Amino acid sequence: MRVDFVDLKARYEEEKKELNECINRVLAKGNLVLSKEVDELETDICNYTGSRYCVGLNSGTDALMIALWANGIGKGDEVIIPSISFFATVGAVVHVGATPRFCDVNADMNIDVEYAENLITDKTKAIMPVHWAGRTANMSKIKDLAKRHTLLVVEDSAQSMGGRYNGQHPGTFGIAGAISCHPLKNLNGLGDGGLLLTSTDEIYQKAKRYRNHGMVQRDKAEIFGINSRLDTINAEVIKFRLRGLDKVISKRNENVRLYRELLNIDEITFPVSACGSDIDTQVMFIVRAKHRDALKEYLKSKEIEALVYYGTPLHLHEATINLGDGPGSLPTSENICSEVLALPHNQTLTSDQINFVCSEIKNFYKR
Ligand SMILES: Cc1ncc(COP(=O)(O)O)c(C=O)c1O
Repeated sequence: MRVDFVDLKARYEEEKKELNECINRVLAKGNLVLSKEVDELETDICNYTGSRYCVGLNSGTDALMIALWANGIGKGDEVIIPSISFFATVGAVVHVGATPRFCDVNADMNIDVEYAENLITDKTKAIMPVHWAGRTANMSKIKDLAKRHTLLVVEDSAQSMGGRYNGQHPGTFGIAGAISCHPLKNLNGLGDGGLLLTSTDEIYQKAKRYRNHGMVQRDKAEIFGINSRLDTINAEVIKFRLRGLDKVISKRNENVRLYRELLNIDEITFPVSACGSDIDTQVMFIVRAKHRDALKEYLKSKEIEALVYYGTPLHLHEATINLGDGPGSLPTSENICSEVLALPHNQTLTSDQINFVCSEIKNFYKR
């Protein structure tokens, strides 16, 4: 039996009819950019998440950058980020001209708020928690810290669309939140896409300008922006998929329950929510595994695709090494990165496939 990490072709087979209808509907109207469909998606996202405003963009990375820009964060400012994340988290901070301050994480792989407090200087403008793998960071503690030190909270909620913490959606706790609609996310388009959520009219208006070159009208630009307009076809597809998002998340949670039940062995540990979130999105199923690299190779030999997400913490990349304190400075993040393995996990995975993956993992450790 072959088990791919994700199977987007299987998803296409399930949704073929509706996806083709979305594409045909948009092409027949001929309005492919900044259309009514994008406005409708933004309204649907606000209704679903409870966010006051939403702006459709080209990617989650753009949503992070525009959130920082729109809040006036740039040169001379510091932004605290966890060292466990995708590279876009630090990239967004550096691209707006600010300085990242790398923070260690807890066992749940999310930002260690006590550690973050020690990083605050008079230059710190914002804290940018990441809800890693769709597990919500401790937003109560983060909001409290931000309030005590007058920091902005910009959430990297790229992986947590559809999660809940104390009944509230990740991405709506701070002044702005960034959602990714990349194909590997739970709410995805046909390629790249992103959404910026915000609670203020000022950030909303600015974000709409930034995504369209800074223009307020066809012939009037007030600031310099970029081209980060969400395509209409993507908006229509995301709108359609939003209706099935809760089902996707609940299937992913079922997968995780089965994995945990079957993989009850000492060599594998599962990170759990440290703050007791109501719904984690389970965008990825990342475990900590003894002899990780050998296990990954063994699984590959059995046609099971497991991936290292990620082997390098943000402060130890070639591009970032001079921005932080180097190897050994963030021990929990570094230890976690040496053990993490993401197992195949998506809404089209069958229980037979999960059984097969688990029995091969057990076979590996028995050898
Ligand atoms: C935690 C995190 N931040 C930011 C991003 C960037 O999102 P995008 O790929 O849509 O630009 C991602 C996407 O992979 C992510 O996982």
